[in-house]
Amino acid sequence: MDKITLACPPEFLCAGVIGHPIAHSKSPLIHGYWLEKHGIRGCYERYDILPEFLEQGVSDLVEAGVRGFNVTIPHKIEIMKLCAELSDEARAIGAVNTVVVRNDGRLYGTNTDYFGFIENIRKAKPDFDFSYGSAVVLGAGGASRAVIYGLKKAGVPNITIVNRTVSKAEALAHEFGCGFVTWETLPDILQSCHLLVNTTSLGMVGQGPLEINLSPLPDNCLVNDIVYAPLMTDLLKSAESRGLDFVTGIGMLLHQARPGFEAWFGKSVDVDDALYSRVLG
Ligand code: ATR
Repeated sequence: MDKITLACPPEFLCAGVIGHPIAHSKSPLIHGYWLEKHGIRGCYERYDILPEFLEQGVSDLVEAGVRGFNVTIPHKIEIMKLCAELSDEARAIGAVNTVVVRNDGRLYGTNTDYFGFIENIRKAKPDFDFSYGSAVVLGAGGASRAVIYGLKKAGVPNITIVNRTVSKAEALAHEFGCGFVTWETLPDILQSCHLLVNTTSLGMVGQGPLEINLSPLPDNCLVNDIVYAPLMTDLLKSAESRGLDFVTGIGMLLHQARPGFEAWFGKSVDVDDALYSRVLG
């Protein structure tokens, strides 16, 4: 692998995102928007790093002087080994999506996906009360861990996980102190569901459909899909046609970026309509 060097001028504050593949990442659009908006002399680039070169790539970036970076597929778990310090969130979720390079070059790894998930709902539905009732989480993969961690932190009293591979739902339920059911018994618990979240890849462009009958849900149930391509997934369309409140998934991506930007560039930032338009446009 060629040594990674930074493209931006030496006096600029530099950050970026590492992954493989990385060309599709929307993170440069998000951070670029905030850099422009606040007139910060900084840059945020994509760095394509193959799994076998992770350690070398990260060491090159640190040597080149990056302030930190986001981490995406397939490095979110492996990067943990390279971090000198991990936040409680990263440890509980079992993955790192944001790294801050300390002054001494050591890495601090954290996970802001749970924050992005909760902030997305809080900002879209300020009156939604997480502590009021039960949540049902579809899926038991990496994204589900961040969502469940966020729900617990937000005070949801009762969480039930549903997953195709039941053993994964069971293990996650045990780890986070939740319940779990099979897809067959899902309708029985939907009647008392106050928040329904899809964390599976079903409904995403190129993936199979998410087939679920929303009729048992109570009228005050909020539906959220963390899939954002398409923005209006079939799940959200069904929620809308049933007259239920819903929140799209793109805000999770936007809000999860905030803590990293603040740590690297020293400026607290908001998610505004212009940022939504830029990322969706
Ligand atoms: P991510 O990091 O995005 O969560 P992941 O860890 O691969 O990705 O998890 C994908 C989730 O979507 C899992 O819950 C997976 O179910 P399994 O654990 O049974 O694999 C779910 N999923 C993916 N394809 C699915 C399908 N065709 N039917 C049902 N669930 C599916």
